[in-house]
Amino acid sequence: MGNGRPDDFHRDGGRRRLPCRGALGYIGREDFLTDRIVPLLSAQQIADRVRDLGAAITRDYRNLSLVMVCVLEGSFVFTADLARAVSVPLRVEFLGVRSYGQGTSSSGVVQITHDLQNPIEGEDVLLVEDIVDTGLTIAHLLELLRTRLPRSIKVCTLLHKPARSATPVPIDYLGFTIDDRFVVGYGLDRAEAYRNLPYIGVIEAA
Ligand code: IMP
Ligand code: MG
Repeated sequence: MGNGRPDDFHRDGGRRRLPCRGALGYIGREDFLTDRIVPLLSAQQIADRVRDLGAAITRDYRNLSLVMVCVLEGSFVFTADLARAVSVPLRVEFLGVRSYGQGTSSSGVVQITHDLQNPIEGEDVLLVEDIVDTGLTIAHLLELLRTRLPRSIKVCTLLHKPARSATPVPIDYLGFTIDDRFVVGYGLDRAEAYRNLPYIGVIEAA
């Protein structure tokens, strides 16, 4: 049974309260220790869905020049798995964004913290997001990247919360539709914590 190692945290869905040895600069250590994470999507459910998305992207991009744009930080885990589920040649680029939103809500005013390293003109861009919530971030990024004249641009998001939609955004590849709950894990954070959970869950205060 659990002896307080991070392994247990990963295995049991965060049910046990564990001492955490990581540097948690942004979230109270006490919160981290006492938050209960209720699993919503298991690692297996995510893996199955990512495999299907990869197969669909492989079919659609067979004769195209695919550039996956990983929207940092949240989609680093998803992009890593998705890229390996796609079997056509591709390039991966990283786009760092910071939203000026208050608390857990996005304003849609997006600061680019890390830009693409290569041009995308004439390329077939696939924006890879962890979650489309209000849709404001992705709408802004689509507008920005279109000015760089890609041949095509599509959106792949692991999660979508339609209840919070503030602007219509085209989603070409979708992992899961979820209710209006704040989720963490598999790259998604709350105050920079929980990105390393291998599943997606909802935080329940102790
Ligand atoms: P949007 O602009 O409202 O669509 O928000 C997009 C960004 O907000 C995502 O890329 C996430 O970084 C963050 N976000 C929205 N909902 C959640 C959530 O439930 N958990 C963690 N991050 C979220
Ligand atoms: Mg994000």
